[in-house]
Amino acid sequence: MLQKPKGTFDILPDELYKRNFIYNLIRETLSSFNFKEILTPVFESTELFKRGIGEETDIVSKEMYSFNEDKFTLRPELTAPVIRAYLENSLYNESPVKKLFYISNLFRAERPQKGRYREFWQFGAEIIGSDDILSDAEIILIPDLILKKLGINDFVVKINNIGNTEERTEYVSDLKTYLLKFENELSETSKIRLYKNPLRILDTKIEKEKDILVNAPLIKNYLKAETKEKFEKLLNILQKLNVNFEQDDKLVRGLDYYSQTTFEFQSTKLGSQNAILGGGRYDKLIELLGGKPTPAIGFAMGIERLLIILEENNFTFPKQKNPDIYIITSGEAAKLYSLNITNDLRSNGIITETDLLNRSIKSQMKEADRLKSKFVLILGDNELSSGIVKLKKMDTGNETDVELNKIEKIKELITN
Ligand code: HAM
Repeated sequence: MLQKPKGTFDILPDELYKRNFIYNLIRETLSSFNFKEILTPVFESTELFKRGIGEETDIVSKEMYSFNEDKFTLRPELTAPVIRAYLENSLYNESPVKKLFYISNLFRAERPQKGRYREFWQFGAEIIGSDDILSDAEIILIPDLILKKLGINDFVVKINNIGNTEERTEYVSDLKTYLLKFENELSETSKIRLYKNPLRILDTKIEKEKDILVNAPLIKNYLKAETKEKFEKLLNILQKLNVNFEQDDKLVRGLDYYSQTTFEFQSTKLGSQNAILGGGRYDKLIELLGGKPTPAIGFAMGIERLLIILEENNFTFPKQKNPDIYIITSGEAAKLYSLNITNDLRSNGIITETDLLNRSIKSQMKEADRLKSKFVLILGDNELSSGIVKLKKMDTGNETDVELNKIEKIKELITN
């Protein structure tokens, strides 16, 4: 039998119901922050990601699904596409600050494991046009609130400031000089990174490299007064608003567009893939993609990782609704007549099920029971000639006689 590709998953109805419940909560919360939802194409020009995310990043160098002679790529993230859409549709003309969010699927050719897939979902939010520290705070408060609304409290916000371009360039140069002394002790990956993107070495999981990094220069010592002061202000706001954060000098993110504030929400429940979400400021990206210099900040949360945490917390999701009524029919005439009733009930939002397999009354009854229908109504030749039907409430077994042409009465009995 044919199977789905490795690292992908089907979202079956019960699972989708859970997701839709979360999506509603996300939409409700984002709307209370006055964000507007946006959708962009599933594929974009490869150039957008090369320029936006950076050629030397893991994502661009080895995780992209590209096709048509590499002209197009399935989106591996949403920030660059959202900025492309912002510029292409001149959204900056609508207001000086644009607040956009998305719930979308994306694709990365990664090695699949728990919490890491090749097609996965993110919801994210971007504030475009403000470099005020309040926008940094807002971007962190959104996921903080959503997680707390879902009863998730065991997470920590790891936060760092990786400086502006000048500060970071100076730092990276010193970091490289320091690491060059240990070049022979570095892993093959880190040796390559040393020349292409030394900052990423800070992210290492290798103990020996962690030891080397103990005495490495720290970005915080390269931040100028203005950057430091703003960052302190942000941390003060977060503290006042009870956000559980920890400064992490070594937090660097896997995408090149970041500057200044960067953060990750890490969970104690997720094992090795412990990042529930990541984000930060990307003040140069808009220029890089052809716009005017425009500051911006955003984050994206992995929906599957959120679901894993909820599962581990035994979160009770609302259940899918069972039918309100199952109309059992017997005979051609009854079947045709029943369509009047089902149509009327359905157009009033009453979940109505009927038999589509021409089954006996007995097996239709069984089916109604299996589906946990609240009521059944039996309609056969006798009922048609007498004009009276029995409406049975399944949990009590109570039966009520109703006139067939009084659908209003049936509705009333079902909905009360
Ligand atoms: P990212 O850190 O690459 O950032 O991804 C954000 C989140 O997506 C991760 O924290 C994780 O929860 C989830 N995620 C990433 N890769 C996978 C995967 N293979 N399987 C399942 N979940 C995954 C970004 O994508 C940036 N665009 C975030 C951003 C928005 N920065 C500014 N604005």
